[in-house]
Amino acid sequence: MRILSGIQPSGLPHIGNYFGMMKPAVALQEKGEVFLFIADYHSLTTSPSPEDLKKYIQEVAVDFLACGLDPKNTVFFRQSDVPQVTELTWILNCVTSVGLLERAHSYKDKVAKGFVPNNGLFSYPVLMAADILIYRSNIVPVGKDQKQHLEITRDIAQRFNSTYGEIFVVPDEQITENVAVIPGIDGQKMSKSYNNTIPIFGKEKDIKSRIMSIVTDSKGLNDPKDPDKCNVFALYSLFADSHHQKKMRENYHKGGYGYGHAKKELFELSWEYFGPLRRRREELQNDLGYVQEIIREGGEKARAVAELTMCDVRKAVGIR
Ligand code: ADP
Ligand code: TRP
Repeated sequence: MRILSGIQPSGLPHIGNYFGMMKPAVALQEKGEVFLFIADYHSLTTSPSPEDLKKYIQEVAVDFLACGLDPKNTVFFRQSDVPQVTELTWILNCVTSVGLLERAHSYKDKVAKGFVPNNGLFSYPVLMAADILIYRSNIVPVGKDQKQHLEITRDIAQRFNSTYGEIFVVPDEQITENVAVIPGIDGQKMSKSYNNTIPIFGKEKDIKSRIMSIVTDSKGLNDPKDPDKCNVFALYSLFADSHHQKKMRENYHKGGYGYGHAKKELFELSWEYFGPLRRRREELQNDLGYVQEIIREGGEKARAVAELTMCDVRKAVGIR
């Protein structure tokens, strides 16, 4: 069974990425052959500066390894190290209807948020389908925001298979339900593209001030509060065991407990939670040659698998 997922290097990985994808993907390393990659071509769709793109590719590589990605069991690589994937994207473009892409929420959301829609942003799901199909992936662990992209991938795979023969595996997403969409500090989906994140690894002062700026309603210190409508509580629940969750719930209900108190508890617990990972990250940061070598070797392995699929694809469509 092949398991595959990707992350864009468009900013520092954040706790939405961690609980939505990185942690579940790392846990799957024991269940099958895992392929994880840095989706650098996808990041280009939102026009980062070349300096930022370069910087975040390295940050994502170090962060993912610090979060438990084990290069002995997992093929870890950069999307752009596999040129076959852009070749397949073109071929898939030619079996993808424009209407299918026009219905994509993530495209519509980005346009609504003011991104100027280039053609790359529009055909983003086709590149993603190529990422998944080229490695004949069975399972794709992702956050809930990616569900529709997986539906589009299946649609494209089925269209291709019914036109040219059974070349592709039709994949399934795996979504961890209780962490499906993690809110950012403004209450919308936490996303590197929306500048509303809490990074996994960052300076203590910065993380604290981001947590302190999480948006809440305007209830005063003594008012009873509703934990189920509160972003601070939603984030705290990711880190806390059921006993601590219950305690915070009671504090919300009884009043005399302000959002500032809850934010302080959230900061302390999250800082402690990521402590061991932070120490691992420091070691990696001091050995960037090792990190680069893992990515290079991963690229070689990924290219070999991609080329096998492409031989079948080229033959099937009549290019060879
Ligand atoms: P971002 O939106 O921050 O740029 P990516 O698009 O690179 O993140 O997503 C990498 C993975 O992290 C995907 O599987 C995505 O579903 C997951 N993810 C991103 N943001 C969240 C979130 N707020 N809640 C849950 N999962 C998320
Ligand atoms: N679109 C994904 C995201 O924003 C990143 C991604 C690119 C991906 N290609 C992929 C995820 C293939 C899973 C499989 O989160």
